[in-house]
Amino acid sequence: MHTFAARALRLAVPRVSCARPMMAVRPSMVARYSTQQPTVDNFDPHVPTAMDKQQPPPPGDDFRVVIVGAGNINFGSIEGPWNHTFRLEHKLGPRLKVTALIDPSHERAAKVLKTKCDSFVLSAYKDTVIYPTMEAYLESLKPEQHPHAVWVGSPPAYRGRTEPGRNIEEVLTQRLRGVPLFIEKPVSTGPVDQAFAVAKEIKESNTIVSVGYMLRYLKVVQKMKQILEENKLQVLGINARYIMAYEHTAKLDWWDKSRDCGPIVEQATHFCDLMRYFGGEVDLDTVLAHSLEYDEPAGKLSRIPVPEDQIKPEDRIPRVTSATWKFANGAVGSLTHAVALQGYQYSTEMDVYADGYQLRLVDPYNNPVLYIRRPGDDHEEVVRYSNDDPFFSEVANMIDCIEKGANAAPILSSYEDAVRTYALTWKIRWASEETARARRQ
Ligand SMILES: NC(=O)c1ccc[n+]([C@@H]2O[C@H](COP(=O)([O-])OP(=O)(O)OC[C@H]3O[C@@H](n4cnc5c(N)ncnc54)[C@H](O)[C@@H]3O)[C@@H](O)[C@H]2O)c1
Repeated sequence: MHTFAARALRLAVPRVSCARPMMAVRPSMVARYSTQQPTVDNFDPHVPTAMDKQQPPPPGDDFRVVIVGAGNINFGSIEGPWNHTFRLEHKLGPRLKVTALIDPSHERAAKVLKTKCDSFVLSAYKDTVIYPTMEAYLESLKPEQHPHAVWVGSPPAYRGRTEPGRNIEEVLTQRLRGVPLFIEKPVSTGPVDQAFAVAKEIKESNTIVSVGYMLRYLKVVQKMKQILEENKLQVLGINARYIMAYEHTAKLDWWDKSRDCGPIVEQATHFCDLMRYFGGEVDLDTVLAHSLEYDEPAGKLSRIPVPEDQIKPEDRIPRVTSATWKFANGAVGSLTHAVALQGYQYSTEMDVYADGYQLRLVDPYNNPVLYIRRPGDDHEEVVRYSNDDPFFSEVANMIDCIEKGANAAPILSSYEDAVRTYALTWKIRWASEETARARRQ
């Protein structure tokens, strides 16, 4: 994936500058343990990306990380395979030192730290200090404890804006100049123009930033990019469906548009992002959308695991959102998101069409498979890569990029690019709300 991904980066995503490595680079060590080595010409599907296929991390200098948010994305949950600290532990081994955990919920932070300290990764967490705010952390920061990276997995309501308390990127780029940032998707829940303003500040500060659109790192996704690129294909159309399993999504905020912004901004953002990755920029003025709302006859769901009646009617999420748009090259995009399934596993699929080609990405979350139909042929080739872990790749690439420089490992989602995905998701939400309002009148 590495080289191929590096080329994909040049084509599709603004390059992230790694001009300011924050610690001494030890090339031999990094090269041996990188999942994403940069110098081979062709995409190599055999490069191991799963954690259990890596060489054990060697000893070395401490790598100090500040973690923002003691929740699911950073510490894991039953809902999915995400868990950034677990990947950091496996990438850095005994070098990992989590110096600070920032979370207003001391109880939650203390609980996850206790679990870590009761385990074999004690050395990474035994000196971790819990702070309620970034401000409190920065006030107490000693120069010798300067972090090598900050991993931001707080709710998006507290990020991507310019107003105090919601401007963590601004605070970090000003007060911890040059410290690389990993930031979860979506970049914000606030105004899109503010998120673009933050992107500009980040770019001007020359900070390394990686955003957590991990599906870009999947080998099957990289294979799709390779086929498009090597055959110089123009994408004609992309058709995507994202059908979630809602039964165990028990976070009230997720069901409340005033909190998490609804399922397109919060969740289908992963597919909107991939569609941009394959299809290029979207002409936002062309976005059209319909939704099935909670109070329409077809919108009743029998197993919602939260007291939805506590949410204001206007803030309850749609059950289905279906959108179409034009890409800048004229191609047509079509996305359907539905809150429809029970059980745990989502049903997700994306078809990318080009002259003679159909690239069908199936189940990228659980069991990624790529079906390829080529020109002049009716048959579908089936591609599966075992032991692929895109969450580990995004973590490993970020660390390699910090330690070894930009060419060591591509960061596939820059902040500015992620803001463009954010803008698309908001446009879909607005378009669906507009048609819903018009229909009710
Ligand atoms: N890439 C993925 O597949 C994926 C998966 C899960 C979550 N996420 C993203 O990760 C982010 C966090 O989601 P989550 O599921 O971990 O949420 P969560 O609710 O489980 O955890 C959020 C944590 O942040 C804390 N918090 C609240 N305000 C804070 C602040 N100002 N500063 C620091 N911490 C604060 C909360 O107390 C809580 O402990 C969201 O943007 C979500 O979309 C991404």
